[in-house]
Amino acid sequence: MSNAPSWDDLFADPRFHWTEPDEGVLATAPRWRDEGRDAIYDLGCGAGRHMAYLQTQGFELYGSDVAPNGLDACGRYLAEAKLPARLVRADMTTCPFADASFDAGVSTNVLNHNSLPMLRETIDEVRRVLKPGGEFYLTVLSTNDWRCGSGEEVAPNTWVLGEGPEAGILHHFFDDDGIRDWLSDFDIIEARRDTGASNSSVRDSGEPAVKDFWAVWIRKAASTS
Ligand SMILES: C[S@@+](CC[C@H](N)C(=O)[O-])C[C@H]1O[C@@H](n2cnc3c(N)ncnc32)[C@H](O)[C@@H]1O
Repeated sequence: MSNAPSWDDLFADPRFHWTEPDEGVLATAPRWRDEGRDAIYDLGCGAGRHMAYLQTQGFELYGSDVAPNGLDACGRYLAEAKLPARLVRADMTTCPFADASFDAGVSTNVLNHNSLPMLRETIDEVRRVLKPGGEFYLTVLSTNDWRCGSGEEVAPNTWVLGEGPEAGILHHFFDDDGIRDWLSDFDIIEARRDTGASNSSVRDSGEPAVKDFWAVWIRKAASTS
């Protein structure tokens, strides 16, 4: 039996109960509202920062996550805010919703946590549950992130981290070709690499831990014919 930590273990620590919305979510919500988008899916909703924020902006939110402790924290956060909690426990590879359910979706800091074959299954599921013309905003780590190269490489660009707050957790990292190949069934509206943003971690070596990630907006074709 593996002793590797999981996200369910990490959610025992309130440090992982994030409440500040991601900048891309903040920037995109007004446009989605102006466009009349309504039903939004938060894949890997965690402790619920976007489940809450996007509901305060007038959207109807549905969330899924694999970690019961994350869903519990999310449920409490939404209850305190007196907001509906439409939450389902599910692995990312099987989104528990009907085809074409959502006008839009978000998944921040989630779609790194699997092997590339599983992430391909996941993005196919995202496409399935989006309506034609549906948009999705996601963030994933790039191969320039400080964590890429730390720990054990179990497949190309896929590492079980050896240090930091998520040590022991599987991460896949995307380079430019990798991100475009992974998302090739979508129109890429924008793929922005944000580099140099430092976070609070310091490497075991004492070097600063510099975060480097992709913020990506994609759209499912309006017509699949
Ligand atoms: C870094 S947290 C991000 C949480 C949230 N999206 C946010 O930005 O606040 C990563 C999330 O991915 C979820 N996760 C990891 N592996 C998953 C899987 N196989 N299926 C579904 N969710 C997963 C974790 O439970 C956790 O909630």
